[in-house]
Amino acid sequence: MRALDISIIGATGAVGAELIKLLESSRFPVSRLRLLASRTSGGRRLRFRDEICIVEPLDEINDTQADIAFFSAGGAVSAKYGHLFAAQGALVIDNSNAFRMNPDVPLLVPQVNPNALAARPRSGIVANPNCSTIQLVRALRPLVTAFDVHQIILTTYQAASGGGLKGIDELLEGTRSVSRGRAPPRAERFPFPLAFNVIPQVGEIASEGVTLEERKLVQESRKILGLPHLRLTSTCVRVPVINGHSEAVYLELHEPVHLKQVHELLATEPGVRLYIDGTHEGYPMPRLLKDPMVVHVGRVRVNPENPCGLWLWIVADNLQVGAAVNALLIAKLAISNNIVGGK
Ligand SMILES: NC(=O)c1ccc[n+]([C@@H]2O[C@H](COP(=O)([O-])OP(=O)(O)OC[C@H]3O[C@@H](n4cnc5c(N)ncnc54)[C@H](OP(=O)(O)O)[C@@H]3O)[C@@H](O)[C@H]2O)c1
Repeated sequence: MRALDISIIGATGAVGAELIKLLESSRFPVSRLRLLASRTSGGRRLRFRDEICIVEPLDEINDTQADIAFFSAGGAVSAKYGHLFAAQGALVIDNSNAFRMNPDVPLLVPQVNPNALAARPRSGIVANPNCSTIQLVRALRPLVTAFDVHQIILTTYQAASGGGLKGIDELLEGTRSVSRGRAPPRAERFPFPLAFNVIPQVGEIASEGVTLEERKLVQESRKILGLPHLRLTSTCVRVPVINGHSEAVYLELHEPVHLKQVHELLATEPGVRLYIDGTHEGYPMPRLLKDPMVVHVGRVRVNPENPCGLWLWIVADNLQVGAAVNALLIAKLAISNNIVGGK
């Protein structure tokens, strides 16, 4: 297999930076890395392996040729440039929500639905799901396969980094201001200042009082798990955590659930780390995650009021598991399926 020409669109952002680090540390075969961002970052110098790469403004480039183009610059940029890169032969791996529900675009979590990328999609585009969806479906996969699920109800606790680098800055600046007795700066990335706060809204509130993030969780989980009638409902909440999304998930089955079987299913699921109640590890927390590449599951318990009810606490690094790691795994799957990298 030959080394590949890679473009990262949104290279100076939170996800782009993680992707560069992952490419750097992996043995991914890169012949040329092209870093693209907005005009603001044009000319910035970023190190990759032994080279210095100069960031180019996306709207000033003439050729869009690449083997793989990772997009993480928001939905509007993907919608404008995604098809252009794909038409020039690139496999576009898109982190935004621009194409996720398009029937010609596989929505892929390689540990869950790898068969969705058996061949090059007609569109030339593969979508990376929303960060809270990825960690959810990776933990749910063995359970929805083994059990007949009646419904799933969850609450997310989403970190500031889900709002990009500016989201992190807004939380840190607000925390400093409030700690010194001053008002936090005006919120830009979030609907209200996030410091010392909890905001029960992630994304726009759309129809029927449901937010965009809550709608994405339902639609994307159904598409990835291949369960179009899955009953799933959520409240998505922004919390003052820098990085790492948490989810409290309640599954109601059609039959009584046995904790031992659930432990066995989760403990043997690749890429999932199970924490058993009562052991010294306790449960996962975003601040103390040891391995940012896996999905951490703890507080697993049967509802004492209903033997068909099961609770899980799922935590993962949203920039890694929820974006960069998933995107890189998609690229590796495309290589092993000979979709990119042929002579
Ligand atoms: N953060 C997460 O946890 C997460 C997880 C999964 C998916 N995503 C998705 O990934 C994408 C990026 O998120 P992020 O958190 O990395 O955001 P971010 O930190 O705000 O970074 C945005 C990146 O996009 C670039 N950009 C903005 N406007 C552009 C334009 N008109 N042309 C070219 N480049 C432009 C920015 O360049 P400049 O630096 O020059 O402005 C920056 O590199 C979003 O679609 C987001 O929904 C994020």
